[in-house]
Amino acid sequence: MSISRSLLFTAAFALAAGTALAGGHQGNPAVKARQSHMQLYQHNLGILGGMARGRVEYNADLAVGAAQNLATLTTLNQMSYWTPGTSTDDLGDETRALPAIWEEGGFAKAVEIGTAMAAAAQNLAAVAGDGQAAIGPALGAVGQSCNACHEAFQQPRN
Ligand code: HEC
Repeated sequence: MSISRSLLFTAAFALAAGTALAGGHQGNPAVKARQSHMQLYQHNLGILGGMARGRVEYNADLAVGAAQNLATLTTLNQMSYWTPGTSTDDLGDETRALPAIWEEGGFAKAVEIGTAMAAAAQNLAAVAGDGQAAIGPALGAVGQSCNACHEAFQQPRN
């Protein structure tokens, strides 16, 4: 194979692989990544919520672990999740991310909420080992940030 033909082949292959990643029934990788990240938030928040409400017996190790996971998740770089062209306008039912994220001021607002959430999650991790009663108020502050972002940027379920 000549060099130019092998280059062409490589380019065609890269294009096909890119298409498979970006569309098809694999789903959009950026959408999958951010939804997975959200699922991890939900999982860890759920453990702490159960303890705060007394539905799950308080366990300091489990509580601290979940709170530390939440705090760590807020430190991940999310730039590659929120790629342009992946809103509900572009992908329909595949995502619930509203176009508002990509509109003027959208990212700044999301970062502001995310920064507040990171601080709240750090505080939660610091107190989660102090007993069942300590969890509720600290968790509430984290939950407020989740809600603020969803109100602004997540399409409600119908
Ligand atoms: C920066 C804004 C932002 C913050 C902060 C945020 N979310 Fe989300 N969340 C979103 C958006 C936007 C979606 C829709 C994503 C999509 O469908 O592409 C979403 C989706 C979700 C989903 C659905 C995931 C799925 O599988 O479809 C869950 C669950 C969730 N968030 C939980 C949480 C929890 C719990 C927190 C707080 C610990 C949180 N989120 C914080 C913006 C945010």
